[in-house]
Amino acid sequence: NWSMQYYLEEEVKVIRQCVGDQLVLLGLSGGVDSLVSAAILHRAIGKQLYCVFVDHGLMRLHETQQVQSYVQEHFDFNFIQVDASQQFFSALEGIIDPEEKRKIVGKLFIDTFLQVATEQIHQHHVTFLAQGTIYSDVIESAHGGKSQLIKSHHNVGGLPEELSLQLIEPLRYLFKDEVRALGLALGIHRDLIMRHPFPGPGLTIRVLGEVKESYVKILQLADNLLIEELHTSGWYEKVSQAFCVFAPVKSVGVKGDNRSYEYTIVIRIIQSDDFMTGKFAKLPWDLLEKIGARIVNEVAHVSRVVYDITNKPPATVEWE
Ligand code: XMP
Repeated sequence: NWSMQYYLEEEVKVIRQCVGDQLVLLGLSGGVDSLVSAAILHRAIGKQLYCVFVDHGLMRLHETQQVQSYVQEHFDFNFIQVDASQQFFSALEGIIDPEEKRKIVGKLFIDTFLQVATEQIHQHHVTFLAQGTIYSDVIESAHGGKSQLIKSHHNVGGLPEELSLQLIEPLRYLFKDEVRALGLALGIHRDLIMRHPFPGPGLTIRVLGEVKESYVKILQLADNLLIEELHTSGWYEKVSQAFCVFAPVKSVGVKGDNRSYEYTIVIRIIQSDDFMTGKFAKLPWDLLEKIGARIVNEVAHVSRVVYDITNKPPATVEWE
């Protein structure tokens, strides 16, 4: 894409000019926006970039490892990773309310990030903070939408003032499809770039009610089968967002010769331009049948799979 190549070169010049010989710190969440931000900053300033990756243990199956090993193989910047998953599971124990879960995860994420970031900032005299804010975040927060709150979770906005960092937002004027085009122009693997949007609180809000590590494991396996089948059948890039939800509701089934009485997996697949409204995707029955059968047969503790046929509005995309 010629115009994206041009944008890339111009943006690299701007970043270089702005940063000079100073150092930049970026929080990597594992998502597409922060990954593309990291890649363009790396192109511009190489080892002057410090990336802090906080792993909350609530990503899709293997996703954290995939992003981390990609980053380490392809980029030569300072990469600091923190596995905080056990802290997140402990903090979520006994919490049922969706908004409370969001707040807990958001706060713990920011606290963990800040602790590590502050150490790095002082130790290396970092003067810039980069964020993966994209244009839709800018517009929505200007209109008082929830996105400021949403994004503030991963694109950390609340750094203590005494650190007095300057902000760099290399994707601030780009729409999501342009961010993806830029990511491809930067040579990032297509599978990483074309990933569907993923909420900041991650699987926290896709395990209904209390989040238990064992539920997350079941959800990750089911979700992974869904995504695998969508890739194989060519549907992944035709839909806007597809995922599984874990419902801690038990129902009766028959597995082999035995009666089973286990959990429910919901499949949610949405077609949408902007996620403000959306329609459930009308996948071929045969494909849905195959996905449902695979989940029940291959994922332990699931006896039923249901397909969500609600549009937005009245329903939201996520279940919590
Ligand atoms: P809803 O469920 O509000 O989702 O119809 C619309 C889009 O927003 C995503 N979403 C979130 N993203 N933090 C995020 O970063 C959140 O708390 C959150 N809740 C929903 C959702 O995945 C969909 O793309």
